[in-house]
Amino acid sequence: MVTAVARRLAAQRKEIDAVLEPFLLSPETLREVKNKMRTELEYGLKRETQGSATVKMLPTYVCGTPDGTEKGKFLALDLGGTNFRVLLVKIRSGRRKSVRMYNKIFAIPLEIMQGTGEELFDHIVHCIADFLEYMGIKGARLPLGFTFSFPCKQGTLVGWTKGFKATDCEGEDVVDMLREAIKRRNEFDLDIVAVVNDTVGTMMTCGYEDPNCEIGLIAGTGSNVCYMEDMKNIEIVEGNEGKMCINTEWGGFGDNGCIDNIRTEYDKEVDEGSLNPGKQRYEKMTSGMYLGEIVRQILIDLTKRGLLFRGQISESLRKRGIFETKFLSQIESDRLALLQVRQILQQLGLDSTCEDSIIVKEVCGAVSRRAAQLCGAGLAAIVEKKRENRGVEHLQITVGVDGTLYKLHPQVLQETVKELAPWCDVTFMLSEDGSGKGAALITAVAKRLRNIDKYLYAMRLSDETLIDIMARFRREMKNGLSRDFNPTATVKMLPTFVRSIPDGSEKGDFIALDLGGSYFRILRVKVSHEKKQTVQMESEIYNTPEDIMHGSGTRLFDHVAECLGDFMEKQQIKDKKLPVGFTFSFPCRQSKLDEGVLITWTKRFKASGVEGADVVKLLNRAIKKRGDYDADIMAVVNDTVGTMMTCGFDDQRCEVGLIIGTGTNACYMEEMRHIDLVEGDEGRMCINTEWGAFGDDGSLEDIRTEFDREIDRGSLNPGKQLFEKMVSGLYMGELVRLILVKMAKEGLLFEGRITPELLTKGKFETKHVSAIEKSKEGLSKAKDILTRLGVEPSHEDCVAVQHVCTIVSFRSANLVAATLGAILCQLRDNKGVGRLRTTVGVDGSLYKMHPQYARRLHKTTRRLVPDSDVRFLLSESGSGKGAAMVTAVAYRVCAPRGDQPCPPFHAEGVCLAAGPGAAQKASGSPVGCSGESGISQCGDF
Ligand code: G6P
Ligand code: G6P
Ligand code: BGC
Ligand code: BGC
Repeated sequence: MVTAVARRLAAQRKEIDAVLEPFLLSPETLREVKNKMRTELEYGLKRETQGSATVKMLPTYVCGTPDGTEKGKFLALDLGGTNFRVLLVKIRSGRRKSVRMYNKIFAIPLEIMQGTGEELFDHIVHCIADFLEYMGIKGARLPLGFTFSFPCKQGTLVGWTKGFKATDCEGEDVVDMLREAIKRRNEFDLDIVAVVNDTVGTMMTCGYEDPNCEIGLIAGTGSNVCYMEDMKNIEIVEGNEGKMCINTEWGGFGDNGCIDNIRTEYDKEVDEGSLNPGKQRYEKMTSGMYLGEIVRQILIDLTKRGLLFRGQISESLRKRGIFETKFLSQIESDRLALLQVRQILQQLGLDSTCEDSIIVKEVCGAVSRRAAQLCGAGLAAIVEKKRENRGVEHLQITVGVDGTLYKLHPQVLQETVKELAPWCDVTFMLSEDGSGKGAALITAVAKRLRNIDKYLYAMRLSDETLIDIMARFRREMKNGLSRDFNPTATVKMLPTFVRSIPDGSEKGDFIALDLGGSYFRILRVKVSHEKKQTVQMESEIYNTPEDIMHGSGTRLFDHVAECLGDFMEKQQIKDKKLPVGFTFSFPCRQSKLDEGVLITWTKRFKASGVEGADVVKLLNRAIKKRGDYDADIMAVVNDTVGTMMTCGFDDQRCEVGLIIGTGTNACYMEEMRHIDLVEGDEGRMCINTEWGAFGDDGSLEDIRTEFDREIDRGSLNPGKQLFEKMVSGLYMGELVRLILVKMAKEGLLFEGRITPELLTKGKFETKHVSAIEKSKEGLSKAKDILTRLGVEPSHEDCVAVQHVCTIVSFRSANLVAATLGAILCQLRDNKGVGRLRTTVGVDGSLYKMHPQYARRLHKTTRRLVPDSDVRFLLSESGSGKGAAMVTAVAYRVCAPRGDQPCPPFHAEGVCLAAGPGAAQKASGSPVGCSGESGISQCGDF
């Protein structure tokens, strides 16, 4: 008899063990889960795979954790967990930093959760109204942060999860739905600033106490994690600098079947009976909403097998949802005596024996232990990723956690993480205040940045506007090229008489002068041809004091001649008459290579008596006056042209030269048939666009801001170079300074403090913009720079100033992308190809020194001109080398005539083998020379 009972019990035991066996996961299985999760995380971050990834990795646009400087009074909504809460959160910053919260819990009836979207949001607004009334703050238009614990992509609900299924919400903007419901009620108004996932709210809540908290985990009704990811790894978001919080939405892990090997029949049953079958498979194995259901399915099976409840499936056991998480945790608790378990089961309508209650306790334990282990495996993948991102062997990190389920088996989850991520020292911090506090902290920062965005709204140019600017510039180019419109055109489209990029046959010993950028440089460029072409360069930088830049032209050119003399002395070539190429980075009208009539000074220069004069003549005169050396100035070259030629030396495809430095400008190879001002229709000629003057006729007034106007008023050339003043390095720092002054005056920065340094023109330089936008040290640089300006910036001030810098420099890159885009379209159309393949040679301090500028420019350009493959080639050796290349060809043309200046070259009106385009269409005066057979283009390159 005893043996029979023992045998029966043993058989029962075996069967129960067999049922629960799939819930016991081996370390290998857990490791496999971790690895699969890791793979899915990567898929979600990559642009190519993001669309089909099951772990969506949604960018949250939250780029930092709290730092204690947040302050203000906020409303918070917290929807999606066990409770719906409305909160009032008061945050104090500084030494007495504190957060005070008042909240009220409201019920959301099932029929509203699963009714229409309008009903749901009306109910939410009804609860808010009740709360405002209750707190006596109905009249205050408070900023609101909305913890909305569902997957959202840029504010749009991707899909309901858990117990919600209200109609007409998926694919809709959450803020819009809330705003419309507020409007429908028409009783109060709220400023909805941020929508936050509960994981993010939790990370921020814990991050307020522990700055090392960079992960937020929810193990509650639903299951999810967020973490701070390096921007460079987030392909779908613009920018590489800093970090951004990613809401992984890992609940969807396994929706592609990748963890089906560990899903049991019970899991499948639960899934099928859920509101979203086939979806959130990992969540359905790990979160409170479903664990009770899994338990119920197992109990039904065990009852059917006669192992429980005397084989009788009661009405109660048939009821979906009877095992809420709270019962689960009670039943499981070691502290609970069997009798108490029986009492709970009794409450649930389940009449159990003592044996039954042992089995039920065991089932609950197995299911929730598996949930904790799976959650731990997923978390281990995140923690490992963080460790790799930081590039450290050992990672110390804090995970902020919330959710009713976490509290069930914290040790199991923690142990699993420890086992699967042994190199990581993870501290788990339970969020005591829920996500509402974190949402309010985010709202505080977002409100500040939004104020700046609103403030600088006019500087944030949409692609639509950029495309419009591109079209406007294209029209300007056309006007500049046309004989009829050129005289009144603002973009002068100056012919340069350079007709091709270097072909590799250039050689000789040259001097290059390079005046007009940040430095005045003199170079000696030796181009030799032993086996292959090699270039040797030596250079000196000379000071050009401001009083010389702003004095008389004679003094300026005397200074240039003096520096040249000094250079030749140092090079011991004073007795030689080397050919000279003159990079003169200002708009010059040319009728041949060795003539340049300055149209107008730009940038820092304003020497008298030069505008309207030929700079070659002025320089020759200054050299003659000295009489201690001689020079043969063979070519005047704009820096854009020099840059194109320098880059063309390395890349034959280069046909655009771009400068983004002290000033800005571009040149490109235009078809002769489009250049009315030069005779001839064959071949191409480089056109110096002088795009800095774009907008001087008022055509950019709609996008110019009050700050642009102020910059212009304070410049050396008011009303001129208006595009340049929105873009280039000479003005960028000052633009930022003017914005900061105004913001401080309005109390938006530095608590309204303004210092004499901040009010001083030129005190905030473009190099400071570059420093502040650096990814790693940017904020600490901001602190140093602002401190030197006498303000005592808070961290929030530094974030705000960084944001201002980003807006200003981004606008600059966007504007250049638009004008460059117009040139690329022109080239594409000229060539009559569907897709343009070309190289742009680039130089200039802003482009080179700013940490993000180049990348932003490349990206926007490619977006604006999608049918192009553009290579941006940085000019490593300045324009001098290019100027020497131009000089080399000019010299080659003249060389047979020995040391004598080339008569036809210099003598206007003489042109031997005139070739196409040697005489000017507009003036009718022929230019250039020829001599060497095979070189049909003469006097120019
Ligand atoms: C939080 C919140 C909730 C959230 C919840 C998860 O801190 O403030 O809104 O969804 O934790 O827990 P639960 O167990 O309620 O789903
Ligand atoms: C070049 C030059 C300069 C030129 C400059 C633009 O390569 O050789 O003379 O004007 O780049 O840059 P910057 O930032 O100096 O104005
Ligand atoms: C939602 C997540 C949320 C999680 C925890 C999931 O069902 O998709 O957005 O964070 O539940 O509440
Ligand atoms: C000048 C251009 C020059 C550009 C870049 C502008 O101010 O007008 O000729 O190419 O600066 O240096």
